[in-house]
Amino acid sequence: MAHKLFLIGPMGAGKSTLAHLLAWHLSWEGCDLDREIEDQAGQSIAQIFREEGETGFRDREQRKLSAIARSRSPLVVATGGGVVLREANRALMAEAGWRVYLRTPVETLLARLVSGEERPLLQVADPRARLAALLAEREAFYCEADRILDTQGREPEAMAQELAQWVTRGIAYSTDEGR
Ligand code: S3P
Repeated sequence: MAHKLFLIGPMGAGKSTLAHLLAWHLSWEGCDLDREIEDQAGQSIAQIFREEGETGFRDREQRKLSAIARSRSPLVVATGGGVVLREANRALMAEAGWRVYLRTPVETLLARLVSGEERPLLQVADPRARLAALLAEREAFYCEADRILDTQGREPEAMAQELAQWVTRGIAYSTDEGR
């Protein structure tokens, strides 16, 4: 199985941007789990939530993650914020590669999240309270990552360079170990 790196963390943590940059630095493919789900469904995430509910979306997410984890090419994967909720997904990612948690304060997440219907879970009267509650529920799962990267005040490009070096060292180390 080829190398995989999963970027995990809440909505607005910058997973998609970083996945793109990091894939470029590593000369790997980059992919975005939500976009893959949308392409396959022929519907937006918001539509899937409306028509199939959150469970329908989570089933699609799990199936797509499983296919991606087993794919043959090295991949940087930007996951959706709720991917860690299912134990099966956490096990898949732990087995398939590295998990990096993009830790980001709630205020920064909120400032980055544009309003609109793109994120169904934030279509509530108090998005800040909802985001804080989601983080409280998921933080322990995010912290199971192989590496925690604090994104506050950092440029995506600098983080991509740092992670690319870390991955390259990890690959060299595991190759040495295997000899
Ligand atoms: C979700 C995050 C979204 C998307 C869906 C559910 C979540 O992805 O998967 O709206 O449960 O936190 P992003 O983290 O890319 O916004």
